[in-house]
Order: sequence, then C-alpha cells, then structure tokens
Amino acid sequence: MIKFDKNGRIFTLSNKNLSYVFYVNEYDMLVKLYFGKRLSEIGKNHLDAFNELGGDVYRFYDVKKDKEQCLDEHLSNQYMSLEVPPFLSFDKREALISITHEDNSSVTDFRYFNHEIMQEKPSFSDLPFIRDEQKSSETLVITLKDIKDEIYLKMYYTIFSDVDVVVRHNEIINRSKKEIKINQAYSACLDLNSNNYELISLYGAYASDRLLERQDITHNRIVIEDNAGGKGFSHNPVAALKDKNSGECFGFGLVYSSNFQFSFTGSEMNQTRVLLGLSNYNFEYPLKENESFITPEAVLIYSANEDEMIHNFHDLIRNHLLRNQKKKDPHTILLNSWEGSYMDFDTEKILSFIDKAEKMGVNLFVLDDGWFRNDDTYGLGDWKVDTKKIDLHKVINYAHKKNMRFGLWIEPEQISFNSSLYKKHPEYALMDPSLEKVTSLRHQLVIDMTNKEVRDNIFEQINAIFDEYHLDYCKWDFNRSLCEPYSSSLEKRYQRVIFHKFILGTYDLLNRFVTRYPDVVLETCAGGGGRFDMGMLFYSDQIWGSDETDAISRSEIQYSSNYFYPLRVLGSHVSARKYLNIFEKAHIAMFGTFGYELDPNSLKEKDYELIKKANKLYLDNEYLVDNGDYYPLIDPSKNNFVSWMITSKDQTKAVVLFMNYRHINWRARFVKLKGLDPNKKYINSLDNKVYQGDFYMNVGLNLSMGMTNFSPMIIELKAIK
Ligand code: DGJ
Repeated sequence: MIKFDKNGRIFTLSNKNLSYVFYVNEYDMLVKLYFGKRLSEIGKNHLDAFNELGGDVYRFYDVKKDKEQCLDEHLSNQYMSLEVPPFLSFDKREALISITHEDNSSVTDFRYFNHEIMQEKPSFSDLPFIRDEQKSSETLVITLKDIKDEIYLKMYYTIFSDVDVVVRHNEIINRSKKEIKINQAYSACLDLNSNNYELISLYGAYASDRLLERQDITHNRIVIEDNAGGKGFSHNPVAALKDKNSGECFGFGLVYSSNFQFSFTGSEMNQTRVLLGLSNYNFEYPLKENESFITPEAVLIYSANEDEMIHNFHDLIRNHLLRNQKKKDPHTILLNSWEGSYMDFDTEKILSFIDKAEKMGVNLFVLDDGWFRNDDTYGLGDWKVDTKKIDLHKVINYAHKKNMRFGLWIEPEQISFNSSLYKKHPEYALMDPSLEKVTSLRHQLVIDMTNKEVRDNIFEQINAIFDEYHLDYCKWDFNRSLCEPYSSSLEKRYQRVIFHKFILGTYDLLNRFVTRYPDVVLETCAGGGGRFDMGMLFYSDQIWGSDETDAISRSEIQYSSNYFYPLRVLGSHVSARKYLNIFEKAHIAMFGTFGYELDPNSLKEKDYELIKKANKLYLDNEYLVDNGDYYPLIDPSKNNFVSWMITSKDQTKAVVLFMNYRHINWRARFVKLKGLDPNKKYINSLDNKVYQGDFYMNVGLNLSMGMTNFSPMIIELKAIK
C-alpha cells in the first residue's frame, strides 16, 4: 500500500479507493501532491503537472542573484502545498509545529532526513489510538530535522486496506542539549488545491448536543476549537469538507478528548489549508534533551460523497476503535434510575424499580447518581456507599436473581468542596492556590488527574466498590469543565500543559479501569454528551448522548451526531418527557444503545403493551442499527420532517425513520431512499407491497397521507428472492 519512488522521491499511499501522494523536493521539503480517489500511478514525470497546479515553484522574482545568501530559492508563501508548513519562514499561513528555541527564536522549519515503512500500526500506552487488530495497515514513518537545531520530527502515516483513511500523528524529539518549548503541535496538515468547499461540523450546547452546521470556505480562517478541557459542548473534534462541484468529501477527526483546534484557511490563491490537532490555548510544552512529545492521532478520510464519508467514519470507529464489548452481551435493554428518581430513593424504591424493570423486559438496571449522597453539594471523592440510604448488596442480588445485570454511576475526575477527601487534601483539586475565589460549578471542582497519587487514591476507592459488589456496568460521568486549572503537584514549567496532562491522567485511569474490569460495560458521559469523541470511544463503547431525552429534540441530535459517529455508540433512552407515547419515543431511541429512563412505578398497564412493542422494534432492528450503513435523508433543521435510514451491508434489509414535525398538508410527500440494490425487489412494512430498489430510490416512499403533529414512523424493507 505504501510506495517510494526513488527517482522522484515520491511517496504514494494507496488502497483500493484512495491515494495520498507527496514528494521530497530539492530543498528536502515534503510537498503535498494529491489526496483523493485512487490514482493508478504517479512518477517523476507527473511532478511538473502538479507544480503548475500549486506546487513549490513560484517564479516571481529573480532568484539567481540572491542565490548565495538565500536559504531556498523561489518558494511561495501563498500556494505551496506542504506536509510540514514552517513557522516564521516564507509560508505565512499557519504552521504545523512551532517551537521556541533556547535563544528565544521561533523559526521552526523541518526538512527530510530519512524514512522507513512499517508493516504495522504504532500504538501508545498513554493516548487512545486507532487499532489495527486485523493487521490491515502499513505505516510510513518520515523523520525530518529542524534547520536550526538537533530537533527531529517523526511523522507517521498509516493507511488501511479496509477503510478509506490515513491516520496521522507526529513526534517531536529534542536531541539538542538545550530545552525548547513547543507552542503549536498539530497532528496533521492537509493542503488542498481548491477552496470551493462546504465545511460540515458539529456545534452544540448543554441539552442540544452536536447539531450539524454547514458553511462555506472562502478566503478567511475558520477555527473550530474547544478549550473546556474535555466537557465542551460547543464544538466536537470531527468535521468534513465537501467539494461543492464534485461532491467528494474529506472527513477529519481527532482521537482526543481535551482542547482541540481544527483550522481551515481559504487562501487568496483559492486553496485550503487544513490543520488538525491540539489547541494552543494555554499551551507551551517544555522539552528537555532526549525528551519527546507525541501528538494525538488525527484521521483523514477521503470519500467520493457524503454518504460514503459517513460510512467510512462509522466503519473506522466500529472496526478500529471500539473495544466491541457488545459482541459478548448483545440485546441489552437498560433502565437508568436518573430521570425516574434522581437522588430521591431508598432500598425499597429501587427494589420496586427492579420488579417493574423485569416486567418491562429490562435486562440491565443502572443506579445513577445518589447511591452515596442525597444531593449534589457533597460526596464526590468519598466513594463509599451510603448504607443508611441503600442496601446495595440486597438490590444487586435481587437484580441478579432476576437475570438482570446491575450497574452504577461514578464521577471519578471530580471532587466536592464538601467531601472528606477535599478537607484532607485540598491540593487534590485543580485550582490556583493564590486565588481567593475559584469558579464553582455544581458545588464541585475538577480533581488533579495529573497527580498519580490522586489517581491511585481514586482508583483504590473505585476498586473497593467494584470488587465488593458484583457490578456489570459503569456510567462514568464528568460534570464540569476546567477553570483556573493549576496543579500543586506539577512543576511550574508544566502548568501550561495542564489540560493535556489532565486528559492523560484520565486516560490512565480509564485504562486501569478497563484492564481490571474488562467485562464491565463502560458508558462515559459528561453532563450529557459533553465529551463525545473518538478518544473516549477507545475506552467506552458507548457515550450518553445528551441530557435532552425528549424524542423530538433527540431526533435532530441523533440525525446530526450520526454524520460522524456510529449509531451504536450513542446512549439513547425512552424517557417520560411530555411529547409522544412510549412506543413512538422508541422510534428514535432504538437508533442507539437502547434503554429507558423514567419512573417505572408510574407506568400504567397499557404502557407495558407499548413497551413490549418498543422492545420488539428495537430487538428486531438491533443488528441492522449496530452494523448497517446510515443514510441521512431529510435534515430536520431545514425541513418540517426528519428522516434517515439504515441499510444492511449486504443490501437485503433496511429500516427507515420518518417523522413530520408540524401538522401541515403535504400532498406530495415522497421520501427517496438510499443504499438499496437497484436490481433487488423489497417488500416494505408500510403497504406490504413489493417494489424494485430503484423505484424506492428514485420515486421514493409515498408518505402523502394525513399525519398529525409529530408522528414518527418506522418502515422496514426486506429483499425478496
Ligand atoms: C449528568 C448526566 O448526563 C445525567 O444522565 C446524570 O447521570 C447526572 N449527571 C447525575 O448527576
């Protein structure tokens, strides 16, 4: 998959669908040539064609007379396509890496040194990463050297045979005798020969997590970033560029859960520079001799169109990122206690919930926040069961006797002001000790995850709970962001990498947890879906989607989230919010990790009939939802409807969701389906008739019937012989 043409010093990474090509020019710079649909070959004879299009020759001024003192002749600051754009040099767009040297100069310019091709993908012990358990990848490692100092940059490019992605990360190694500071450390740069793109991204807020946004790339810089230290609803570390002419899509993501920055610069020459990586917000990483710094992995997807990009994201995450615990435990129907009871419960109440849960067909009961406290003014950091409030052994045994698994909520990265841990160790909280007042959110502070002693303390406490009680599931929450972060345990010089060190500490704790409890189902959460990213998905196969559990609002959240994230990772429950009945609510909740979140004691007999139908609907479609291809059909933010569908990979089954919002007459309401085999015949559950795949896709499903407000419908299609 990876070729090196010695003649032209050209690197070509190709699988059956894409090619990524760049070469080493006469100044040892890595010049980007191409990222797109697979090319059969690229050799030295092609270089001129690329140069005309925006390569590295820029004949503007007479270089010959300056040649003696010129570092490099005729380099363009405006349209060179570079893999490693330098800092403070000829290229005035953003750099990949910038370093402050010991003499306080920040010139950072890496040139080719050597390379190797590995038959495997690198992995890390302290950062999450894209896995290659099937051994379907090859990796190119290029080492470059800074023109000023003995500082090396190792750039990793992994290509897979089974998914159309190039995975990138960088390693900066200081071999100079002096300490340097890293000020900017992106994981990847992609220079594109056009700015005719639409940028697709996700924005959000608490309870309206991850909504789709589209905007044009023009001649300015658009930065998507989040600096909340992990709990950031505002922006999500995924995005895409869609070519407005061809429809081709480039998908981008970062396998990381803290401050990130995606930068898209439309240049005056109508090109686009994309940079993906860590945010430089309060970032300055000191690197001593022989130390190195590794950036998180960035993914670059190429697809012929938007739908294929979605499928590539989903396949990458499902096949190369998740631990895939569900293989062991399919058909889970969960009941979470939060919205049904909040912290107001005792043993009897939970026993009664379990009784009702059994009647509902639930096989996993989750006791959310409150098993160690009665309100949120105390308790975080003191991980002990409030035995006066709840007899946990009793309720767990009771559930297990009913063949129901049992799970608990925890929030290990936070500490309550009012906790014995904080009283004993105020230095365990991340806060600036020189300040008289700190930002308090929900009466709690973020714990100092950069400190191993703190992590050991918390891990021991969690172990005591998980070892004593036979637990099958864990909801790992994170309810506030990092403000005035300062660690009493970190040397002064590391205070400006506190966000990064914090998330490394979280990853360490998560790693210890999944290693010790490999069979405990882990669902992460951050005040809803505030930390929904590929970094978390390395440890937890599912993330709570949003604290907005109203099915109508959820339809937009799920429609948008699934542009990038596979359906099966999104925690999605039927709640008691006021619109729609239980069966209708399940029409939305079934497109995720299905469950309920309501007071089961308030259910009426007729509700159980609806629950029975809801469970069947979910179980009948579970495999398809988990493993099929997602097609967004109608965007609810722009229409009076929402619609999406899932098609099985073998195109024999499909399930379509359709919901109208307001009741308006719509005499010609046809929904054109996607992803079916045009030559196969399918029977549909709407009118039980059989039509050809191309009929469904070109004419559409005829839904021009009368519909009241908010009437979700599920239409199942099956291929017939
Ligand atoms: C925020 C979560 O999103 C909720 O589901 C719930 O677990 C609460 N935290 C508990 O404090």
